[in-house]
Formats: sequence, C-alpha cells, structure tokens
Amino acid sequence: MATFLVLWWILASSVGFTFAADCPASRLHLSEAPYENYFLSDCITSSHVIVTSPDANTNNSNVKPRLLVAWPAGNSGAAAYFEAENDGMLGLHLENSTADGEVLGTVNEPAADGAKNENPRVGVKGLIHFDAPALLTLPILGSVRSIRDYSEGGGVLSPDVQNAVVTEKFGSDGGQFSRTWFDGVTTTWIDFTPTSGAEAVRIITGGKSKLRFGAGTYEFRATFNYPQLDQLSPSEVLNNASQGLIKESADLTTSLSFLSYSNKLLAGSWRFLTYFGRDSMLSALLMQDILSQGEGGALEAVIGAVIERINKTDGTVCHEENLGDYASFLARLKGIDSSAPSCDYKMVDTDFLLPILMRDYFVNTDIGRSRATPFLTLKATFLEENAEVAYRELAQRTAEKIMSITAPFASSQVVSNLIHLKDGESVGEWRDSNSGLGGGRIPYDVNTALVPAGLRAIATLSQAGIFPDHPEWADTAGKYAQVWEDETLQFFEVSVSRSEAQQLIEQYASDTALAGPSNTDQITGNVTFYGLALGGANNKPVRVMNTDDCFRHFLLNTTNQDQLSAFLEQTADHILQNFPVGLSTDVGLFVANPAYAGNKSLSGQFKNSDYHGTVVWSWQLAMMAAGLGRQLARCDGPDAPEFCNQGLRSKVRDAYKALWDTINKNRAQLSGEVWSWEYNNGYKPVPLSAFSTTESDIIQLWSLTFLAVHQEDV
Ligand SMILES: *[C@@H]1O[C@H](CO)[C@@H](O)[C@H](O)[C@H]1NC(C)=O
Ligand SMILES: *[C@@H]1O[C@H](CO)[C@@H](O)[C@H](O)[C@H]1NC(C)=O
Ligand SMILES: *[C@@H]1O[C@H](CO)[C@@H](O)[C@H](O)[C@H]1NC(C)=O
Ligand SMILES: *[C@@H]1O[C@H](CO)[C@@H](O)[C@H](O)[C@H]1NC(C)=O
Ligand SMILES: *[C@@H]1O[C@H](CO)[C@@H](O)[C@H](O)[C@H]1NC(C)=O
Ligand SMILES: *[C@@H]1O[C@H](CO)[C@@H](O)[C@H](O)[C@H]1NC(C)=O
Ligand SMILES: *[C@@H]1O[C@H](CO)[C@@H](O)[C@H](O)[C@H]1NC(C)=O
Repeated sequence: MATFLVLWWILASSVGFTFAADCPASRLHLSEAPYENYFLSDCITSSHVIVTSPDANTNNSNVKPRLLVAWPAGNSGAAAYFEAENDGMLGLHLENSTADGEVLGTVNEPAADGAKNENPRVGVKGLIHFDAPALLTLPILGSVRSIRDYSEGGGVLSPDVQNAVVTEKFGSDGGQFSRTWFDGVTTTWIDFTPTSGAEAVRIITGGKSKLRFGAGTYEFRATFNYPQLDQLSPSEVLNNASQGLIKESADLTTSLSFLSYSNKLLAGSWRFLTYFGRDSMLSALLMQDILSQGEGGALEAVIGAVIERINKTDGTVCHEENLGDYASFLARLKGIDSSAPSCDYKMVDTDFLLPILMRDYFVNTDIGRSRATPFLTLKATFLEENAEVAYRELAQRTAEKIMSITAPFASSQVVSNLIHLKDGESVGEWRDSNSGLGGGRIPYDVNTALVPAGLRAIATLSQAGIFPDHPEWADTAGKYAQVWEDETLQFFEVSVSRSEAQQLIEQYASDTALAGPSNTDQITGNVTFYGLALGGANNKPVRVMNTDDCFRHFLLNTTNQDQLSAFLEQTADHILQNFPVGLSTDVGLFVANPAYAGNKSLSGQFKNSDYHGTVVWSWQLAMMAAGLGRQLARCDGPDAPEFCNQGLRSKVRDAYKALWDTINKNRAQLSGEVWSWEYNNGYKPVPLSAFSTTESDIIQLWSLTFLAVHQEDV
C-alpha cells in the first residue's frame, strides 16, 4: 500500500495533480438530447459543463452548437457558441481523457506572486471534438445571468460585457478568450489547444474576433479566479439516518451535493445556480426528513441564507440574489461602481415560507430546539445593509410584516384585503413567467395556503418564545390564521355545469387541434376547481385549473369539515380525470389546464411550450404527493377529519395511488425542472427546450425532493 501511494504521488505530481484523498472528485453525467451534461466537484471547485450538439432530430432552430460552463461560485460561467465553417450541421462532443479516462478534470493554479487578485485560478478542462471545421463566433464570459439574457432573452448581449472580451493566441497553436469582470480584479478565461494532430487554432480578426478550429479534438480549459464556496458533500448534506441514500440514489445525492454549500443551497443548474428563497425553502420543507441538522448542516444553511438576505427595513424575504459580475452590472446601470451583492424583493409568496420552515426546525425537532438560541444570536454578514443585525431581529421583521399585511383581511373579508402582486410587477409567486397567472393579480396559492400556514407558524414560534418582543402573536396569529384558512377559498372557486363543461372542452380541443382524446365522457357532474388567481376588472377567478391545491394539502390541516371534504374531493377528481377534463396525463399532472377558460386568447398562453403552461413540474408532483399523504395520514391520528369516515377517503386514496403511478412512470424526468410532451399514441415526455428558448435545468433543487417524498401506506 505504501509503495503504491509513493508511486502514485510521483506520477500525480509529475502531471501536476494534487493528492486529495480526503476529498475525492464527484462526477455525474446526465444526457438529455441535444444536451450532454457533465458535473465535476472536488474541494477545489465545482463545475457543470454542457455540450449542445443539435442534430437532424433537433426541432428548434434556437438550439445552437454550444459549450457552456457554469460555476456556483459567483453564479458565473463561460459560454462559447459555435457554427460550422462551411454549410451544414456541426456536431460536437466531449471525449474521455486519454490520461485518466474521465471527461472532466479540475484546473487549479495558484495566483501569480504579487497579483492583485490572490485567489487561485480554478476551473475545468476536457477534450472537445468537432465533426467538421468550426468557428467559435460568440464567447460570453462572466455571469450566468449574462448567458441567460442571451439564450432566453432573444439574443440580448450587453456591449459593456462583450466589448471587454480579449482574444489572444494561447501557447504556440492555441487560442483564448478572456474577460476581466466589472470589479476589475476577477477574470474568466476559456482557452483551446489542439491535440491528436488537430489543426492549430486560428484567430480570425474583424469586428468581432472568432476562433477557427479544424475537424478534430482540442483541449479546452474554462477558468476563473473568484472566491470559491464551501460545498457540502453528500454525507454532509444528509442526516445520519439518510446516509444510505448516497449508494441507493447516487445520481440524485450527487446532484443535491452539487447544489449545496455551507452558506446556501442553490436552485438549479445551469440557469439558476444561486440563492433563490422560494426554491430553497420549499425544497427544505419537502426534504426536512433527510437533510442534515445542527451547525454546518443543510437546514441551517437554508434558513441562514434566507435570514441574511431579508430587507431589514420592511422584512421582505429575498427572492433572488445578485452577486459577482451581475451585481456590478446592475450597480453600473444605476451609476454605482460596486460589486456588493444585492437582492430582488419582488415576490409576494416567499415571506410566508420562512416562519413555516423555522417552526418545523426550531420547534418541531430536538436538534433545532437546542440550536434556536445560538443560531438566532448570529449576526448577518452577507448584505452590507444588514451587517451586525442579529438573525432573530431580521426574522422578526418578516413576521411583523406578515402580521401587518394579513390584519386587514382578518378583520374584513373583502377582495381588496387579499394579498396582491406588487404594483408594477407582473409576477409574484412561483408561476413567475409573464402569463403564468393568466393576467391575475391575486394569487390562489399565496392567499389560500401560504398566508394561513405562515400565520399558524408564527403563532407556534411565538408560543415557543422565539419572538420575545411579541408574546401577543401566540394568540393573534392563530386567530388571523383561522380566518385566512376558512374564508379565502370561496373567492377562487369556479363551478361549471356538466353540459357547459362538455362544450368548453370540445371547443378547447378544436381550438388547439388537440391530438389526444378530449375525454368528455369523464365529466359526470359539475366541474369545480379553484382558479389560478383573481383578475380582471371584477377580480373574478382566472378560469385555469391547476395543481396549486398542493400547497394547502401540504401546509395546512384545516378543520372546517365541509370545506375540507369538498376541497379534497375536487383535487382527487382532477388527478383521477385525464386532461383536458382533469390534469392527468401519462407524463404527469399538468400544472395548468386552461380548457375551461372559454377564451382562446387566454388558453393560448398555456401551451406545451409555455414555462407554466400545459407542462409538468417535478416539485409540484412531489408536493401534491406529500400533501395528500399528510391529509390521508390525519385519518390515523386523533381528531380524524370527517372525510376519513366517508366514501371520500377511498377516492382520495385512489387519487394518491394514481398520482404515484404516474410519478413512478416518469422517474427518468423527475430530477429535471420542468418537462413538456408530444402526443403520439399517448402523451410522451419531451424537453421543454424542444419548443421554447427556455431550457429546463437538468438538475433542480426542488426536483430532488423525491429523495425524501415516498409513497406512504395510507
Ligand atoms: C417541430 O415542432 C413543431 C411545433 O413546435 C411541430 O409542429 C412540428 O411537427 C415538429 N416537427 C417535427 C419533425 O417533430
Ligand atoms: C468514455 O468512457 C465511457 C466509459 O467510461 C464510455 O461509455 C464512453 O462511450 C466514452 N466516451 C467516448 C466519447 O469515447
Ligand atoms: C451523526 O453521526 C455522527 C458521526 O457518527 C455523530 O457524531 C453524530 O452525533 C450523529 N448525529 C446524530 C444526530 O445522531
Ligand atoms: C427595503 O424596503 C424599503 C421599505 O419598503 C424600501 O424602501 C427599500 O427600497 C427596500 N430595499 C431594497 C434593497 O429593495
Ligand atoms: C353546478 O354548476 C352550476 C353552474 O355553475 C351551478 O349553478 C350549480 O349550483 C352547480 N351545482 C352544484 C350541485 O354544485
Ligand atoms: C380573454 O383572455 C384575454 C387574455 O387574457 C383577455 O385579455 C380577454 O379580456 C379575455 N376575454 C374575455 C371575454 O374574458
Ligand atoms: C398535518 O397532519 C399530518 C398528519 O398527521 C402531519 O404529518 C402534518 O405535519 C400536519 N401538518 C401541520 C401543518 O400541522
């Protein structure tokens, strides 16, 4: 053994590797044609590399040959767009290294002596093969946000970013692009060197410099010198009881670890490789049974990240952070020279999740109870404006905001007292594409589920002494919660008679040239559902059936028996009925079904190419499954609700089972963010990017929640 180690050390040091036996590299390859995704993490850095190679089957002219590298540190990255030099298709792929057989390797070079940036230059390297002579026509270097603005923002490029790109020879026959960030000290590089006798890289100068490659294989290296994050390994992100998952579900736990760091969990890769409040808290709520607790654990990373980013003036929880080069870019737009991180506070749903998660951890778990005092005494460091403010004070600001904005409806149950999107914003909750709420401004999920659940949690936290300045909340928050729980659903209710429902479905099938069956034989009575939001001049429900019932099932144990029974019954119907009558298809539950809108223009905003249209989101399946599981579990507890003793219990069980059947059928898709479909003798899963410039993230934090959400015996 000793001899082997010495030999290995000599070999390793001669090729410039460092020995890091305590920190083995973790790798993952996920394929979703035309995208090949490779992940590499070790103690030095983490990288996600995606190669896009459109072929004759790629039915979307927006999909271009591309090499993209995304790094969690600073939400940064490098993209290189290619074209065939001559007419025709350009195929590209990564090859295995001849040295170690792996596709990716880590680059780690110390900063030069006396450099003004002392961070090492780190990143990833690999071999890229071009089937035909190729031109690298567009490099985008710096922030993932700049790459997204180009790829899904209709080709938006910032001249300030692009004009700073420097093109140079690299070594004797290679080529390189680099760009120094707006901070003046960080640089991103991407360089290429021919291997295996490929032609030298040629720089083609002109308005925009290009690199020219022959057919063949080139080594690429994508690197940057920005401070790195402290990644949580799979064993660090999971609690002791869940360590077995590392072997049982290696890909999912590797994905979870790629998105988990000591001071935050990231939403997904490559597009959302940074803090998002809603994503991290919903994921933590769904995965609380398996995530590590205590100091340095995943749950405290999530809660700490949220508290750090609260607007201390009004208590709003941060939706998305801006950091790294993009933070400087945004500051420059306001004429400020700063790379300090900032936050987007436009959402109206995220505040409520914080007390819910805090209750579940600091009140409902043993370790959390023992950690409440030391944790809440910590002082914020991330945002300059929060420096030195204690976590307890920041969290209390959020609770104060919630108490204050929910008080008017608690005393007078009129529409104007419900929670609205912020003025001037077209989005405010998870359906945050412009038409995600069908033009509605008073979202269903927020008002009927998140508000009452947040209030219940504040009451419990207050009873546990977490908010010593507000002992009165122990009582008032519970009273408010009761009103919001019992008095909000009716505003969103849509009931359509059987004959009208049949007519609307036939009309929708004809308007959209629906390829699948219209299933109108499944309509056996009135169709009832709760609209996505309230909108229009009269604040009527937007008549789009949806999966947002899952929030109430997952977050609340309501006690108004008639209301609970009716609510459960319509959810069960939508799961048991096939689209377009209900939500079910072979590829999962559609998050939106606009068939009852009776409005071609509205239903046209919910197509299978729309981000929040007739498409499937993994985490909505997880929350629906977890929510129905919780409601059914109430039947085995004290105070079993009335539905447990009615025929309804078996209908809900049937829906639960049917839901799990589709979940199990779609295991291949579950760790992705969202997927679409085509109809070919049944609904078949298709990546959303087949129809849209919006690429789905191949790994998404809240889509990994099936690690913790299982079919229960209920
Ligand atoms: C390509 O997609 C369009 C819709 O986006 C569809 O109408 C067409 O049939 C598709 N073609 C192929 C070859 O799949
Ligand atoms: C790389 O190696 C793997 C096995 O480790 C193999 O499945 C794959 O086909 C190889 N890739 C290429 C491009 O040769
Ligand atoms: C988890 O395991 C570690 C190492 O075996 C141990 O030190 C720790 O106390 C355990 N934690 C819990 C909550 O059991
Ligand atoms: C924080 O909230 C205050 C009060 O609503 C607002 O004036 C301020 O702009 C907010 N801060 C940020 C960074 O949005
Ligand atoms: C069925 O729907 C119609 C039309 O919306 C409504 O008038 C009627 O009260 C509903 N019937 C039941 C039993 O809910
Ligand atoms: C149909 O939907 C469109 C788009 O949401 C909306 O502008 C229009 O007012 C709706 N028409 C009716 C009759 O409700
Ligand atoms: C609701 O009841 C279920 C089943 O007993 C339980 O698992 C869940 O934690 C409860 N939810 C709340 C918010 O109390």
